[in-house]
Amino acid sequence: MRKLGLKTLCLFVFCAMFGYLSAQHNTENRIEEILSRMTLRQKIGQMNQVNARKPDEKLYKQIRNGEVGSILNAEDPVLLNQLQKIAVEESSLGIPVVFARDVIHGFKTIFPIPLGQAASFNPEIVETGARIAAVEASENGVRWTFAPMMDISRDPRWGRIAESFGEDTYLSEEMAIAMVRGFQGEDLSQPSSIAACAKHFIGYGAVEGGRDYNISNIPERQLRNIYLPPFERSIKETGCATIMTSFNANDGVPPSASKFLLTDLLRDEWKFDGVVVSDWASVSIMVTQGFCDDRKNAALKAANAGMEMEMVSGCYTDYLEQLVKEGKVSEKTIDNAVRNILRLKYRLGLFEKPYTDLTSERKVYSEAHLRAAKQAAEESFVLLKNQNNILPLGNKVKNVAIIGPLADAPHDQMGTWCFDGEKEHTQTPLNALKKQFGENVNFIYEQTLAFSRDRDKSRFAQAIEAAKQSDVVLLFVGEESILSGEAHSLADLDLVGVQSELLEELSKAGKPIITIVMAGRPLTIAKEMAQSSAVLYAWHPGTMGGPAIADVLFGKSYPSGKLPVTFPRYVGQIPLYYNYERIGRPAKKNEVLLNDIPLEAKQSSLGNTSYYLDAGFDALFDFGYGLSYTTFEYSDLVLSKYTLTKDETLQVSVILKNTGSHEGCEVVQLYTADVAASASPLVKELKGFKRIILKPGEQKKVIFELPIEKLAFWNTQMEKVVEPGKFEIMIGGNSVDLLKSSFVVN
Ligand code: GLC
Repeated sequence: MRKLGLKTLCLFVFCAMFGYLSAQHNTENRIEEILSRMTLRQKIGQMNQVNARKPDEKLYKQIRNGEVGSILNAEDPVLLNQLQKIAVEESSLGIPVVFARDVIHGFKTIFPIPLGQAASFNPEIVETGARIAAVEASENGVRWTFAPMMDISRDPRWGRIAESFGEDTYLSEEMAIAMVRGFQGEDLSQPSSIAACAKHFIGYGAVEGGRDYNISNIPERQLRNIYLPPFERSIKETGCATIMTSFNANDGVPPSASKFLLTDLLRDEWKFDGVVVSDWASVSIMVTQGFCDDRKNAALKAANAGMEMEMVSGCYTDYLEQLVKEGKVSEKTIDNAVRNILRLKYRLGLFEKPYTDLTSERKVYSEAHLRAAKQAAEESFVLLKNQNNILPLGNKVKNVAIIGPLADAPHDQMGTWCFDGEKEHTQTPLNALKKQFGENVNFIYEQTLAFSRDRDKSRFAQAIEAAKQSDVVLLFVGEESILSGEAHSLADLDLVGVQSELLEELSKAGKPIITIVMAGRPLTIAKEMAQSSAVLYAWHPGTMGGPAIADVLFGKSYPSGKLPVTFPRYVGQIPLYYNYERIGRPAKKNEVLLNDIPLEAKQSSLGNTSYYLDAGFDALFDFGYGLSYTTFEYSDLVLSKYTLTKDETLQVSVILKNTGSHEGCEVVQLYTADVAASASPLVKELKGFKRIILKPGEQKKVIFELPIEKLAFWNTQMEKVVEPGKFEIMIGGNSVDLLKSSFVVN
């Protein structure tokens, strides 16, 4: 019996493998077969992505002639099927087009902005959100999203920090692979799966001055240590199907024409077999960047570097055929690009099922989707201050003033990059508070400012009157959604308009103020912090932000988020991030500040360390910071070994205790630091995190397994190595208050 079992098992495995391999083999054969029948013109057609905001006869003709490989921004499933019908039934080869869209943090059911999702430190809820977005987008015909954006972002002046997972490489890796898994599902060929796109390749988050579309200057070693890991893991661990090149020239070379990035690294080193798509006209703007003489030269440089699908600027359509005939671009290059594009379409199952099933039950805004969006919002909130435990309000209050331009702002609450989210479905804090707690609480609402940039103070008096009549004020301030996102960099991170003045005036009413901030980035809110009894940072929380905020404020749920990005005190401190490179004269505590400098001080007397006379060095809030409704105590940091070899795994444990009176969820964070290396190492790096829920008085031993190989870094010889020597290891609830120990790698 056992022999038969083993034999059957082997047979089963063989068939399964053979089946998989034959499917793979079959796909490659089918690709070659189609390729062999394609004219050069038809091949180049596959490399063309067109914008279908307003489809017209020109577009229909392009599709019929096989001159379109992908269409973005078509948004109606009936229209998509009509366009697909032309491609499949009226073109000579019947190759389906793939419909693409920016489904960044939800399609119809909008989740928190990715920066907020990162604050949850919960990859599972991020994966769930992406899965829901994929289900909703695919039932509308979208099978390719331009997400996750995984640009490491250390500069909150850059509006696109809102779309990122923040400043840390490891956190971005974990969030990126979770989102790719969610979008692509178990099987990319399933109708509810959509191709993910790792973007923007590479270094876009490091644009000089935080000014969008600017240049970056990141040496290869920093690319490999800081910026590339999320992309590499998304490709190698989750088979991310596509990758998008970025606008920023890095050290003078636009990624859309970087052979090092697109061929040497992506293909030869990482063995990527997906599709490289440009960013919006990032091929043609290389002329403006002075990198190309004209659009023909842009097509030449991009194609020869390995850029495969050109988004909307048409240089390939206009010049590639001529370039091949002139021998400047080989047809082999074109064939390789078309193979990858056809492979994507096969993997998506588009050859078998090119049309969207319009008869199936639609799942947009389903109860389950809304529930998940609420959970994601709750877990994204970061409690920055809670003086005298004023929160949760529970049944402590009877009269509550709701004030400010973001208390009832259904459009702005969704945040940036919400093409298909509908504000009619947004549940705002005002509505949710009344609905969920209006029976026992008297809410007095004063919008006071019509929008965040509003400078009209004429309704301040009513706000102050409402405050006087209340036990507590809930003040909703922040940014309209349009003030973050693409092309929306800011040089000043103070609250816009007269929101700060409103808080100032309200504080004179002598009632506790709980400030809820909705924003797409860190803001410089030191003054507002001082004037508030509690501050909850809600980012742009999406469709269900209102019910989430209401439940957290009144204690039906609790905040557990941690900051994925450092909050500066002053915009002048930027770039300011936690994992900076060790320097020779690091700032000390209590440095001499501007007003403490003695008159006629001699030049050498101010100490010699790296800080600002007028701002010190400390951040307003550090990476990983976030309070809870309870308190946690860390003790007994223990290492399994204190000397290890490179191929061993270190086990690190700590005791975490809930020392407060509320249940709470603590994100336990593990950091390491190389004390000395062949290139100056970082002062610390996040290497692990765990969300631990504990009841009051409960304690738990939290264990991390840290393979020593995870301490590897790229050295100046461009080798990824773990260098022997001393390492520090730290555990805590943020990147500053940490239990420390050390070990040696030999
Ligand atoms: C934009 C963005 C990119 C987006 C693309 C398509 O310019 O840079 O992130 O996916 O164009 O909308």
